[in-house]
Amino acid sequence: AIDIDKLRSATGAITIDPGYKNSGSCKSEITFLDGEEGILRYRGYAIEDLAEKANFLEVSYLLIFGELPTASQLEKFENDIRKYTLVNEEMKTILKGFPKTAHPMGVLSSLTSALTAFNPKSVNPHNEKEMYEAVCKTLGKFMVIATWTYRKRMGFPLNYYDNTKGFVDNFMNLMFKLPTEPYKVDPKVVAALDKLFILHADHEQNCSTSTVRIVGSSHAGLFASISAGVSALWGPLHGGANQAVLEMLEEIHNNGGDVAKFVLKAKDKDDPFRLMGFGHRVYKNFDPRATIIKKAADDVLNSLGVDDPLLDIAKQLEKVALEDEYFKSRNLYPNVDFYSGIIYRAMGIPVEMFTVLFAIGRLPGWIAQWKEMRVNKEPIGRPRQVYTGYTLRPFKEIKDR
Ligand code: ACO
Repeated sequence: AIDIDKLRSATGAITIDPGYKNSGSCKSEITFLDGEEGILRYRGYAIEDLAEKANFLEVSYLLIFGELPTASQLEKFENDIRKYTLVNEEMKTILKGFPKTAHPMGVLSSLTSALTAFNPKSVNPHNEKEMYEAVCKTLGKFMVIATWTYRKRMGFPLNYYDNTKGFVDNFMNLMFKLPTEPYKVDPKVVAALDKLFILHADHEQNCSTSTVRIVGSSHAGLFASISAGVSALWGPLHGGANQAVLEMLEEIHNNGGDVAKFVLKAKDKDDPFRLMGFGHRVYKNFDPRATIIKKAADDVLNSLGVDDPLLDIAKQLEKVALEDEYFKSRNLYPNVDFYSGIIYRAMGIPVEMFTVLFAIGRLPGWIAQWKEMRVNKEPIGRPRQVYTGYTLRPFKEIKDR
């Protein structure tokens, strides 16, 4: 029989850290996060400053290339991204094959992976020039296919990128412009969306980013790695929480707005229900993104003249939970997803697209982390385990089982 203990000592000490709560998987220069103090910085710049003063493409450039762009670098970056916003017509055939009811995140993950087939050169960039091209291609094409997932669901014809408009304006156009009706994007919506994208742009080694890095560590290409990241983000414990929060708030509203009942349910260990949008693996005092988003929710709803009862329910829920011993003792606070859905809803974004918006925002972070991993020539990601199964068993013929 195999002596498991002997085997274990032969492989050296293996630390068990389920969920990697205390394990660092890499060294990174991209994002600094202090969960105790509620600090988030991209390349040394405070998230509060970036959300207030920069735009999404500037922040994308910062994350990916390490420095804030000059005006001419930013203009070139935007033009270069624009060049790649055309998506191969054959991709439409793939889109056509999905049922209308398919969740947009599943469609997005598949289409992102399919980009590999049509852009083989961008799969594994070998030098700086190819890397730059792959970055621009990914940023340009991903946003377009992300909006396709909605158009497909609605049965609307697909729109093309409008070269006379900015990146975030284009998102709204691609999503909502219909051939028969004039459509004008509200600049207030663009400004708010830009801010939300910035707040989501990177968050060090979270579940989807770690997925992107680990898939890329096998030298799988950029699109394949990002596609895996989209799948990881989809889950309700991660990016899918923004959809789950809104559905939860709607349920509370439809049940007469009794927030205390839902807080009680979340504390019940026999009930799998959790307060969606609450708690975070790293932030233990507050999530600085949630603070900015809560204020933005008030501002956006006021400026758009939207009166949403779900915002009041969210505020009540936050108040009741924050005063509750269960949530206090476990350091559970609203996270980035708690208020973002209310803003998306005020902008007219359908709930099943919320996580897609998160993915668009997170894309520069995924790209930056993938690039850093490849440039640093990191080894293949391959965690170990502690085996707890049988030792050697005699094989049983099928007739004897
Ligand atoms: N509602 C009720 N109880 C909760 C919640 C919640 N939202 N979150 C954590 N807890 C409880 C757990 O049951 C556990 O209790 P116990 O100590 O009695 O067993 C304790 O708090 C610690 O929770 P863990 O699950 O161990 O914490 P972990 O760091 O693994 O999980 C996570 C963090 C996944 C974010 C969790 O808080 C959660 O499920 N929140 C709801 C989903 C959500 O909002 N996700 C978005 C996160 S932000 C993002 O990814 C963009």
